[in-house]
Amino acid sequence: MKALELKNLHLKYLSSNFEIGPNFNLSINKGDFLGLVGESGCGKSSIGKVLIGLINQNEKDNFGVSSLEGELLFDHMGNQTNYLNTSYKNLTKLRKDVQMIFQNPRSALNLKMPVINTLLESARIGNPKMKKNDLLKIIYDKVIRTQFLNKNIKYENFLDQNKILATNGSLSGGERRRVSIAKVMCMNPSIIIADEPLASLDASIKLDILNYLIDEWKLRKDSENPLTLVLISHDVGVVSNVCNRVVVMYGDLMSKQGKIVEEFNPPRKFELKINKKNHPYTNELISASKYFSNE
Ligand SMILES: Nc1ncnc2c1ncn2[C@@H]1O[C@H](COP(=O)(O)OP(=O)(O)OP(=O)(O)O)[C@@H](O)[C@H]1O
Ligand SMILES: [Mg+2]
Repeated sequence: MKALELKNLHLKYLSSNFEIGPNFNLSINKGDFLGLVGESGCGKSSIGKVLIGLINQNEKDNFGVSSLEGELLFDHMGNQTNYLNTSYKNLTKLRKDVQMIFQNPRSALNLKMPVINTLLESARIGNPKMKKNDLLKIIYDKVIRTQFLNKNIKYENFLDQNKILATNGSLSGGERRRVSIAKVMCMNPSIIIADEPLASLDASIKLDILNYLIDEWKLRKDSENPLTLVLISHDVGVVSNVCNRVVVMYGDLMSKQGKIVEEFNPPRKFELKINKKNHPYTNELISASKYFSNE
């Protein structure tokens, strides 16, 4: 069953010559753990913003988009709305369920707002019927799992911590990244677009955060409400190890023709090798990744 589907996307920015499409197609199945890899500037973040309904027909000017065509379908009680061009009311349904961990966490957070208020606001949206005490338990779980707060801090004391009372603007880049991940998790979405979620994190924490995302996905894998995860990354090694489907995008092929250069189903650890049958860009990615041998 499809969770999200982009059909014949054609997006053009006003101030640059960059465009995606005219016929870019991407379909994401329910419960997929999809890796999206590609050259810097090939349009990955733009696609993410389209998938979450941020860039849409009514609000495209706010993002410098001059033209936007195509369809975005989202499985919401079987309806066939095109979310690229729909009412604000319809968009809120999509936005509640489809969340993005933004590449730049500064733009995802109100910098003047304290961390705890940010998380409480998201937890309320994600769990509208829950009492404050239960919301706080969810928040505690997320700030510990993302290692925003040290795991030795007890639930009873977590609201007294300076870090949780601080404003988002006063945090370091890595701390802000962890708050932005906790915020998305508090919203309890069914689809998460994680745009380079490990950027600006210490090497030691990168793996923990990646494992956290994998754990959340695995936890809900066989449930009625599986988590659909899209991991945008430069590292074909990481996505090949953790995702169940990988899509590789590359420069002009992607932007002028809307073509995906490669699509494969991992796990292919130790199998994915430089190979004449691969697109040259896929081979470049493989040779840049420490996870694979290049024979
Ligand atoms: N608001 C904008 N106005 C004009 N051009 C833009 C705008 N936003 C993005 N672009 C251009 O669109 C192209 C794709 O940008 P995007 O951020 O989607 O790429 P990306 O694949 O996410 O790159 P990276 O891997 O570096 O994060 C880039 O050339 C960028 O300069
Ligand atoms: Mg990007």
